[in-house]
Amino acid sequence: MSWELWDEVDRYTAGMLVGEDEILDQALAASTEAGLPPIAVSPNQGKLLYLLVRIHGASRILELGTLGGYSTIWMARALPQDGRLVTLELDPAYAAVASASIARAGLAERVQVRVGPAADSLRALLQEGAERFDLIFIDADKQSTPEYFELALELCRPGGLILVDNVVRDGAVVDPASEDPGAQGMRRFLELAAAEPRITATTIQTVGSKGYDGFVLALLEP
Ligand code: SAH
Ligand code: DHB
Ligand code: MG
Repeated sequence: MSWELWDEVDRYTAGMLVGEDEILDQALAASTEAGLPPIAVSPNQGKLLYLLVRIHGASRILELGTLGGYSTIWMARALPQDGRLVTLELDPAYAAVASASIARAGLAERVQVRVGPAADSLRALLQEGAERFDLIFIDADKQSTPEYFELALELCRPGGLILVDNVVRDGAVVDPASEDPGAQGMRRFLELAAAEPRITATTIQTVGSKGYDGFVLALLEP
């Protein structure tokens, strides 16, 4: 088994079940064109996010880490007409690229891009008394994941879903001495999640076009 085979299977299965999509392809092309890093979720993973939104019947979504809006578009498309997605991005240039792609996807009405450090935006949402979210996707800077998870617990409705990307990081997550601050962030996040009695959670390891990584799926018990 090799990375090449995982990549080939990822492309083959995405070709069969995900397919080409002009809007999403354009969003990725716009990101590349603008020099954004190629770190969006893969097509198969994007469709997983889309399906989770639909299965869960989510109508309010919060995303941390917009990048060029690729995962945003996947999730926003799964919303009902009156659904809303708030996505948080530190970099104003990235947010501008994302906003243009979100508008091209016809989703500008449903999606709000908020620029600034995610922790500040999360605290602002709490302060504003924002309605609780049905699904929160944590995918910003990895070292801050523990802090984001704690704030997400406050912003999530009981019965809501918290998803965390990039938990595995090529397996670095199992190394207590890892020098990757992202891996250390994920270890601290897992410790918090393990000690949190209100959630029921599991990890999905993934391989494919984005290498070896994974998601944590956590249900906030009603
Ligand atoms: N969800 C995207 C990928 C996000 S990549 C997708 O799958 O399509 C991570 C993003 O988090 C980057 O765009 C980065 O600029 C942003 N980010 C980094 N630090 C941040 C912070 N402190 N607050 C908000 N966003 C941050
Ligand atoms: C990286 C990958 C991601 O999916 C992400 O959200 C942020 C960073 C990375 O490979 O560095
Ligand atoms: Mg990610």
